[in-house]
Amino acid sequence: MSKEDNRRITLEKAMKEHDYQESALLEILHKAQGIYGYLDKELLMDISQSLNLPPSHVFGVATFYSFFKLKSPGQHIVTGCLGTACYVKGADEIMQAIEHEYDIKRGESTPDGKLSLLVTRCIGACAMAPTIVVDNEMIAKATKEVVLKKIKEVLGGKKTESR
Ligand code: FES
Repeated sequence: MSKEDNRRITLEKAMKEHDYQESALLEILHKAQGIYGYLDKELLMDISQSLNLPPSHVFGVATFYSFFKLKSPGQHIVTGCLGTACYVKGADEIMQAIEHEYDIKRGESTPDGKLSLLVTRCIGACAMAPTIVVDNEMIAKATKEVVLKKIKEVLGGKKTESR
């Protein structure tokens, strides 16, 4: 049996132990990282299917916590929290500004794959609402201006290829 098979079986066993419960997502992501050393797109898609969760939610959670190592070569990920506190404090407006600037919708990536825009729910930092994460760096009390500037910075000052 290959090493890859063993890893997949171990992960499957962990998900089964949690009865494929959506609420076990964090534990499963931890387990997956422990087994694989990092989380890549394929693995996150696999977990989202097994736990019957939308991929955008699984990617959102994985990108929010800095202890998860993501393997997404050349790609930058922006995750907006749209939990109640963040929503009330204007997170949706910030998301709209990003969508407008980069001509993408939440849950999508730019055609050149450089920028993905994801959404997550409350991540327990409500006192710092609205929170937006750019490549694992959380921007607390975020504003449109600060977030757009940060995204521009991580993209190397260049706009991504538009459609
Ligand atoms: S609602 Fe965004 S951190 Fe709680």
